[in-house]
Amino acid sequence: MFTPDLLHNKRILITGGGTGLGKGMARRFLELGAAVYICGRREEVLQQTAAELSAATKGEIHATPCDVRSLEAVEKMIDEIWTAAPLDVLVNNAAGNFIARTEELSPGAWNSVINIVLMGTLNCTMACGRRWLKSDHPGTVLSISATYAPVGSAYVVPSAVSKAGVEALTRSLAVEWGNRGIRMNAIAPGPIPTQGAFSRVLPHPGLETLALDRNPLHRFGTVEELANLAAFLVSDGSGYINGEVIRMDGGEFLQGAGEFSNLGRVLKEEDWQAIKPKKSGAAPKP
Ligand code: HXC
Ligand code: NAP
Repeated sequence: MFTPDLLHNKRILITGGGTGLGKGMARRFLELGAAVYICGRREEVLQQTAAELSAATKGEIHATPCDVRSLEAVEKMIDEIWTAAPLDVLVNNAAGNFIARTEELSPGAWNSVINIVLMGTLNCTMACGRRWLKSDHPGTVLSISATYAPVGSAYVVPSAVSKAGVEALTRSLAVEWGNRGIRMNAIAPGPIPTQGAFSRVLPHPGLETLALDRNPLHRFGTVEELANLAAFLVSDGSGYINGEVIRMDGGEFLQGAGEFSNLGRVLKEEDWQAIKPKKSGAAPKP
């Protein structure tokens, strides 16, 4: 899909890069020539991923434990990275989520998600953005959102309000920082099987069937499809894309929005035949 040197000379930090989609993006970016930093809370997970991806791709990968909720920890990590050389790309991918009835959420439950998703994204974006602006260094921020961010979603409300904030940040800074060489974009993926996500938001087999039914392609997305889109968006070839949230969900969002999307499930062949005009141009009999 891409030339093998697409991301040569790019230095990329992926938050939450030890698992799931973050790990998939790390692998793809390494294959395309980038130097990759991954961070997360669990050091052993990061080290294992770094060893695996380094062996598989022979690329340069660094594992840096960091809790993105802490501005102090983020500043320390970014300082250490910058000591070697500035980053070119930040991928805000770290997240927390679970399904729950909203009236049962404790203040701690709200905080646990909002602090990772919204505050973590703010902390990392500000830490990189300020350094890029100060040194006139071009930069790209790609955040991983979710398809429900613009419309909200029952049962994942802390995540919905946080991802909506991430999208507002993306669009706002695309304008404020665009003329100083910083691009801001986001991807809103539909369901992609990862242990972290599916164990928390689709913890029942019936929920997976429901999710597949809601999708015109009748399948989930793949980590590789997400990683390819991310590679395109952080590459220089997409330099005029700024302030966009690209939905990647096989058409699921549109199927949910279309008034008549489900007709095909109810109407049988004989129903369609009965509806058709009997002769070309003739109106159907009432
Ligand atoms: C209600 C819950 C809860 C649940 C935790 N809490 N899980 N409340 N229902 N299922 C409450 C706890 O009781 C506690 O409240 C507070 O939240 C903090 O919980 P901790 O376990 O102490 O927090 P922490 O260790 O920081 O873990 C954060 C986490 C956890 C978000 C709760 O799930 C996590 O580490 N997640 C990281 C990975 C992840 O979520 N990946 C999925 C991303 S998928 P009190 O009152 O005791 O303080 C995604 C999009 C999917 O984002 C879209 C698919 C289409
Ligand atoms: P995942 O494997 O659980 O990834 C989440 C990552 O975030 C983990 O590596 C986790 O590592 C890290 N993380 C959590 N809290 C952190 C913190 N405070 N500081 C630093 N890192 C932290 O789930 P995923 O499916 O790959 O999700 C990746 C992204 O895609 C998320 O933004 C998610 O919202 C989005 N998304 C996923 C789907 C899907 O279907 N998979 C759909 C839509 C959107 P530690 O626990 O070690 O910190």
